[in-house]
Amino acid sequence: MEFVANASVIVDTAEEMINAPLVHKGKVRELYDLGDSFLIVVTDRISAFDYILKPGVPDKGYVLNALSKYWFGITSGYMKNHIIHTDVEKLQAIIPSAEDRELLKERIIVAKKAERISIECVVRGYITGNGWRQYASTGEINGRKLPEGLRKNERLNDPIFTPAAKNDVGHDEDISIEQMIELVGEDLTYALQERSIMLYTLAHSICEQKGIILADTKFEFGFYAGELIIIDEIFTPDSSRYWSQDKYALDVEIDSMDKEPVRTYLAGSGWDKNSEPDELPAAVVEETSNRYKEILHRLVD
Ligand SMILES: Nc1ncnc2c1ncn2[C@@H]1O[C@H](COP(=O)(O)OP(=O)(O)OP(=O)(O)O)[C@@H](O)[C@H]1O
Ligand SMILES: [Mg+2]
Repeated sequence: MEFVANASVIVDTAEEMINAPLVHKGKVRELYDLGDSFLIVVTDRISAFDYILKPGVPDKGYVLNALSKYWFGITSGYMKNHIIHTDVEKLQAIIPSAEDRELLKERIIVAKKAERISIECVVRGYITGNGWRQYASTGEINGRKLPEGLRKNERLNDPIFTPAAKNDVGHDEDISIEQMIELVGEDLTYALQERSIMLYTLAHSICEQKGIILADTKFEFGFYAGELIIIDEIFTPDSSRYWSQDKYALDVEIDSMDKEPVRTYLAGSGWDKNSEPDELPAAVVEETSNRYKEILHRLVD
């Protein structure tokens, strides 16, 4: 934990607060083993181009966790998920300090230990980002041919499922449906495709009513007690591309709602993306924190 100029608290890591083995430390989240469940802590860390930036962003972990909880709630009528509970006060034996529990209060999920399916189930409703780059050079995304003449950021007639194989070392690898079938079988491939597109379509229409475009997203699924469930995080800005409707345009670079101040700053800073970036200025951090809170506010309030 560290403090920035405006005295907001940044939870950089929860390692010293938690009496349980840390089994996985991602760029943003930490996974602790509680025996028959996982404790997921969403920190305030922020990354860009695979680098963790300094400092973290106040309230980011809270916003990400709140969004996951909100969307897990909405989607639970359609599909079960990994949440057991989100009440830090039930974890007194694991987080003995009341002060630490207060810090982590809105940043945790206690989750069912699922047998993870090692596929990132990506759904794209718009052609942008890496999908656009693939299409622009080959006319295809993940080996699937798309109509000619699409423009950058254009909405697709139907959302497409473009999976990636999760890779524990290095980057996830884009794969075709045929390759996914080879990895996990035909029945599971089509079940995950159908569920992913259904979940995306539902969230897209909810966002649309609130002036937000959910351009694309990714899900992870697993098996628990023989049943297919959603695991990991859902519709957070780290797993999804949120655009503000009033910024939508074709053929331009649309900044996502959360990272816009960071991206603009980094683009102007001369950073080579291959070395430790400089500390983010306090004003950029504060503006980014506000953007995260604005997404939550616009969606949930
Ligand atoms: N309920 C669950 N059961 C089993 N595994 C889970 C569950 N929820 C999440 N996971 C796994 O926990 C890990 C969380 O890692 P996290 O996303 O924080 O980091 P990462 O994917 O390794 O890296 P990155 O920071 O690039 O996302 C993922 O591997 C995810 O598949
Ligand atoms: Mg991840």
